[in-house]
Amino acid sequence: MNAGIIGLGRCIPNRVVTNADLEKMMDTSDEWIRTRTGIEERRIASDEHNSSHLAFEAAKNAIANAGISADQIGLILVATVTPDRPFPSIACMIQDQLGAHNAAAMDLSAACAGFMYGLVTAKQFIESNTYDYVLVVGVEKLSKITNWEDRNTAVLFGDGACAAVMGKVSENRGILSFELGADGSGGKHLFQNDAGHIEMNGREVFKFAVRQMGESALNVIEKAGYNKEDVDFLIPHQANIRIMESARQRLGLPEEKMSTAIKKYGNTSSASIGNALIEELEAGKIHDGDLLVLVGFGGGLTWGAVAMRWGK
Ligand code: UT7
Repeated sequence: MNAGIIGLGRCIPNRVVTNADLEKMMDTSDEWIRTRTGIEERRIASDEHNSSHLAFEAAKNAIANAGISADQIGLILVATVTPDRPFPSIACMIQDQLGAHNAAAMDLSAACAGFMYGLVTAKQFIESNTYDYVLVVGVEKLSKITNWEDRNTAVLFGDGACAAVMGKVSENRGILSFELGADGSGGKHLFQNDAGHIEMNGREVFKFAVRQMGESALNVIEKAGYNKEDVDFLIPHQANIRIMESARQRLGLPEEKMSTAIKKYGNTSSASIGNALIEELEAGKIHDGDLLVLVGFGGGLTWGAVAMRWGK
């Protein structure tokens, strides 16, 4: 028996901020942003909507999509670096709002690899028969920690939430292999500074990401007993199209077999991989039985990847 995703949901804020909008706010250009990052627009949450609001909406949608009731959930894991406040956790807030009275609840901090850490943690509890269902949410309101005076970072990020209900799936479906990792010595390259803003050494993160995404993706394929030729679709963390392209090329996949949701949403950190998965499912690009590789990296530094056969 494997653990796999049995329901998905997301919450994407309505407000679209285009590169042209950013040109009016800072010394940047649509051309620079598109060619250096692949981003065309991003969504920004309204002032009255905090991360917990986005997380609740995404979770509600995922539970409905899974066809279970909230009180069947044994554990809620919310991956985020932008909780409403340090405590109570978003997981506890939405546990109450969802009526998930039987669920333990905690937030998880692994930056952009958070959703991968969440999926892999959920897998352990399900395959050990501890819980039947685990709710994993990735949510960020990065706009509230963005320094809008810093063009190096302000053009990159967006807000949003994704949620997955994990449960038992058939033998040949679900998460087949995983890799999680961290290198705390790289924490200085991407962090929240004392002013509360994102601070980043883009070039260092870029080098790390190019190396790690390709390596982790190849590792999980091998651990699952497959070759890169067997992969049907790649869902990389949506941070920079050039980083994503290098991972795709290492796997030898054609362009149409990788998600490029980054164009519409920018980098939504913990929400990025789940959101990209939903985007491609809705576009009809992922089918039952497809071999997927999901791979992310982020501040910490952290990374995580899974090989997954799609379906229940
Ligand atoms: O989820 C994980 C989060 N982070 C990442 O994944 C980030 C990884 N890194 C990157 O994506 C890239 O390093 C960036 C997109 C952040 C930057 O791209 P780059 O090709 O590494 O640019 P750079 O930092 O080498 O800067 C090149 C130039 C600089 O000008 P000078 O010094 O050459 O005159 C920057 O000042 O581009 C300038 N620049 C900009 N120009 C217009 C930096 N940001 C902007 C901007 N608009 N927004």
